[in-house]
Amino acid sequence: MTDDGSGATAQLGLAGQEAVALDRLTRELAGAWRGFRRARPGQPALDDALRSLVARPLPEHGVQLAAALDDAIQVLDRSIAQARPRFFGFVGGSGLETAVLAEALAASFDINLASWSAAASELERQAIRWLGDFIGFPASDGHFTSGGTVSTLTALAAARERALPGSRRAGLAGARVAVYASAEAHGSVVRATELLGAGADALRLLPQRPDRGVDPGAVADAIAADRAAGVVPLAVVATAGTTLTGAIDPLDRLADLAAEHGIWLHVDGAYGAPAASTAAAGPLFAGLERADSVSVDAHKWLFVPKACGALLVRDAGALPSCFAHAKPYMAEADDEPHAVDRTLEYSRPFRALKLWMAFRVHGAAAFRAAIERNLAQARLLYRLVSAEPDLRPVAGPPKLSVMPFQHLPAGGGDVDAHNAALVRRLQEEGHVWVTSAVIDGAVAIRPCFVNYRTTDDDVRALVDTTRGAAVAVGA
Ligand SMILES: Cc1ncc(COP(=O)(O)O)c(C=O)c1O
Repeated sequence: MTDDGSGATAQLGLAGQEAVALDRLTRELAGAWRGFRRARPGQPALDDALRSLVARPLPEHGVQLAAALDDAIQVLDRSIAQARPRFFGFVGGSGLETAVLAEALAASFDINLASWSAAASELERQAIRWLGDFIGFPASDGHFTSGGTVSTLTALAAARERALPGSRRAGLAGARVAVYASAEAHGSVVRATELLGAGADALRLLPQRPDRGVDPGAVADAIAADRAAGVVPLAVVATAGTTLTGAIDPLDRLADLAAEHGIWLHVDGAYGAPAASTAAAGPLFAGLERADSVSVDAHKWLFVPKACGALLVRDAGALPSCFAHAKPYMAEADDEPHAVDRTLEYSRPFRALKLWMAFRVHGAAAFRAAIERNLAQARLLYRLVSAEPDLRPVAGPPKLSVMPFQHLPAGGGDVDAHNAALVRRLQEEGHVWVTSAVIDGAVAIRPCFVNYRTTDDDVRALVDTTRGAAVAVGA
């Protein structure tokens, strides 16, 4: 807190300036939140001043808080903020205000959920129950994670231990194993299979039906072929909302298969599972309730800031049998087991508070309504794109809120190269933020609607801006 270079008063803490600091922060947050209500004209450039700020060496002595806040705000303002209503790239976020407040509180108390933490541990259980109720999954156990990647890795570790009891100690010991998923499954499923020692070749990425859900016949055939060859099936990973197109695997059929063969069924609902709560999309998730585990990222379609993943598990014994271990540095409490005996992560922040606070303040109905709006926005984009001769949807009508499309250049030519150039141009302009994706070999513009601030006008602006940028890239 001193900038005189002498180090004489060097200290930590706010030294009585808490109220001033909070007053400043309150104004900054309110300004940012006001700014997020509308799209801004473009993305500010990274100027020399900012580049020199982020090139500075470690300071030996500090500056005034106000100066550091000014710098931090410059950095944030020049970053790609997913909270803005026209951020349509990847699977974005919203930074829901109520959850931001909860995040500040949780960070201040700095509760560590590795060990039993009294009320915070109870609240985490409640938030997991609420999340299970919201999506329609009977969670006997579960916890908050950094996101879908860690949730799926955790679930597959439990699946491995169930399929090969003792493998957590002995390793795979030469056993050949397999995991089954759609060809459109997220890369985190590949990563989990690699990290669990099965090797990426053990992941059977199976063909899809015309609706892009995995073909259950192909899954059944792969399981049968593996069994006949002495390969042990570890898990079926169904995706409920693929990142690429929002496709939903046939959960009921996969649950039948998993039950028939005694295989763990994990549902990767990191993006899509919240839509199971809606009237419009709910029926697509039939069978979700029969899974062994489900991952849901509240930092995606439940709007709270990153990171707030969750893993929900049916069998309360599954995670402890995979993760519990003796540790001399943590006294065991028989009546209140430490969470780390059910989790992959050790130190874990109190992520549950964000979702709990958001559900408590807004209620489940407000979440369902916001998700329904995003679903309707994807359908609106489909209609707008279908109505224009120079635009075409790439993956049919949207199942959820991903709606990939292509622009067709007037003079014909290389449509893929044109769409790749178009996305680069749109990102340079920064009026809307989209990312590209390769779908069945075709380069597409791939917007995804998961922001409660996005309006129908923002969707219309995406179409108009895309057509304007197409002119600029010479279509
Ligand atoms: C379907 C799906 N699964 C898993 C993930 C990975 O989630 P995270 O980035 O939270 O680890 C994503 C991320 O977009 C996703 O869309």
